[in-house]
Order: sequence, then C-alpha cells, then structure tokens
Amino acid sequence: MAGSKIETRQRFTFLDIFRIFGGLLIFSSVLSYWFTSTASWNLLEGKYTNVDFYKFEFSRLVFPSHYGTMSLKQLSLYNGTDSSLPIYISVNGTIFDVTKSKHIYGPGGRYHIFAGHDYSRLFVNGCFKKRDQWTFDLRGLDRQVVQSTLEKWSQYFTRHPEYWRVGCVDFPSLKEIEPPEICDDGLVYPGF
Ligand code: HEM
Repeated sequence: MAGSKIETRQRFTFLDIFRIFGGLLIFSSVLSYWFTSTASWNLLEGKYTNVDFYKFEFSRLVFPSHYGTMSLKQLSLYNGTDSSLPIYISVNGTIFDVTKSKHIYGPGGRYHIFAGHDYSRLFVNGCFKKRDQWTFDLRGLDRQVVQSTLEKWSQYFTRHPEYWRVGCVDFPSLKEIEPPEICDDGLVYPGF
C-alpha cells in the first residue's frame, strides 16, 4: 500500500502541472482569438494596460456619487469647456469618458458637438448641420439601422484603449415633444 502511494505521487510531477496550465493557456488563447481577434482577451491591447484607467477606477471607488446615472443637464457640464472636468460623450444612453481625445472633443475639436451630450441621432444619420437633429431622440429612424449603427459606435467606444464607460443617462420623457424631421442627406461615416 505504502509503495503504491509513493508511486502515485511520483507520477504527478511539476511537468504535468506545467502541461495542464500550458494547455489551458493555449485553449484560452484560441478561444480569445475567436471572440476578440486578440490572443489575450484584449487585456494587453486594451485599456487594462493604461494607468489612467486604474486611476479612473480608483476614483470611482472613492467617489461613487460622481459616477453612475446622470441627467442630460449634469452630462452637459462635461463638455470640455471646464478643463478641471473630464470630457464625456453619450451614445444611446451610455456615457464614455473621452478626455484623452481633447483635440477631437474639446472646444474647437472636430467632434466637440458630441461633448457633454447624447446626440445619438447624429451618430445614425450624420445630419450635423441641422440643429433639430442634435438629440438623443431616435423616433422616425429605421430601427434596424439605428440598432446596428449605435451598436457599432458603442463597441467602438467600449473597446477604445483610452476611453471608458462612466455611467448612463436618465433621459427625460419625449411624450409631449414632436419628433425631429427626417433627414436623409447627412454625412456617411467612412469607418467600420
Ligand atoms: C454619420 C457620420 C459621422 C459620424 C457620426 C462621425 C463621428 C465621428 C467620431 C465620433 C469620431 C471620433 C472617434 C474617436 O473618438 O476616436 C470621428 C472621427 C473622424 N471622422 Fe467622423 N463621423 C462621421 C462622418 C465622417 C465623414 C463623412 C468624414 C470624412 C469624410 C469623417 C472623418 C473623420 C476623421 C478624419 C476622424 C478622425 C478624427 C479627427 O482627426 O478629427 N467622419 N468621426
């Protein structure tokens, strides 16, 4: 009996542990590549190697009331005009911190229009020149186009290594408000 116990212990070596972990690692990398097109579940390529992301997470832990759900009015404070505050944009109700791209979203930036707002309608139809389209109101737009376009934009901001999700918008009711006009001659996003 004693002899067979020793034999069993000897059979399971460090090499076996190494093989198991190695196998799991390869299996995980293959799965990760399938789902994220990276071998590391996006951990090395994404925001997880960005020190600012951890500063943000720490600050969220210490001041939870600064994050979470906010009204459109609260969101408008984060439009880049006050340099002591971060810059937020919202897509379909999800708020992202885009402070890292001040040159794009800060005052004078090409897409400053989005800073401090949820102008999801613009993300869909690109009608930047028409003031009534600067809204989160998606009524009248093709549902499928809305869904696929906003999903792509949300993914874009979620996966961006220097942007992170801050919270969501508590939208007011649109019941009493007329939907914006249909605009079908807007810019077409060249990306995706
Ligand atoms: C539906 C229409 C469009 C929307 C909603 C849109 C939105 C955006 C957004 C949000 C960004 C910033 C991405 C980031 O934060 O990294 C961006 C970047 C950019 N977009 Fe557009 N865009 C549109 C159409 C166009 C068109 C028609 C062009 C030019 C032909 C264009 C040229 C660019 C360029 C060059 C950038 C890089 C950032 C820069 O240098 O300012 N976009 N777009």
